[in-house]
Amino acid sequence: MALERTLSIIKPDAVAKNVIGEIYARFEKAGLKIVAAKMKQLSRKEAEGFYAVHRERPFFKALVDFMISGPVMITALEGENAVLAHRDLMGATNPKEAAPGTIRADFADSIDANAVHGSDAVDTAKVEIAYFFAATDVLSR
Ligand code: PPS
Repeated sequence: MALERTLSIIKPDAVAKNVIGEIYARFEKAGLKIVAAKMKQLSRKEAEGFYAVHRERPFFKALVDFMISGPVMITALEGENAVLAHRDLMGATNPKEAAPGTIRADFADSIDANAVHGSDAVDTAKVEIAYFFAATDVLSR
């Protein structure tokens, strides 16, 4: 087993539904520890930079528009196999395909507004955590 970190973003739809605590409880019950967190209103430039890898995709503008439509809750999580553990908690990208009991099945309305983002690999997580947090703001415990 490997101790990993992953970046989680509770997206504007889930923040608006007031379920930050419910989602955090799922992380904690799964053994993931919050090691950095902040609520933030992303600028268009920040969102475009974060999703730059998807800039040629047809949904890029819709994704950026959605991510700046309200505040998000950005969290670095740490735990055994944190990347996969967090992805399992999120469920499939499209909530219609997400397994029952996952965050997206329970809180997301559509593929456009799908409640949470999670890093897809350990290397990506390092880049994504550094995008939002200074090294000194990530506090292992
Ligand atoms: S891929 O090919 O695996 O990288 O793509 P995927 O992970 O499915 O999606 C990348 C991000 O784009 C979001 N997405 C969408 N947004 C709006 N509309 C549509 N149709 C759409 N399809 C995918 C998806 O939620 C991913 O964002 P994050 O923030 O990583 O969840």
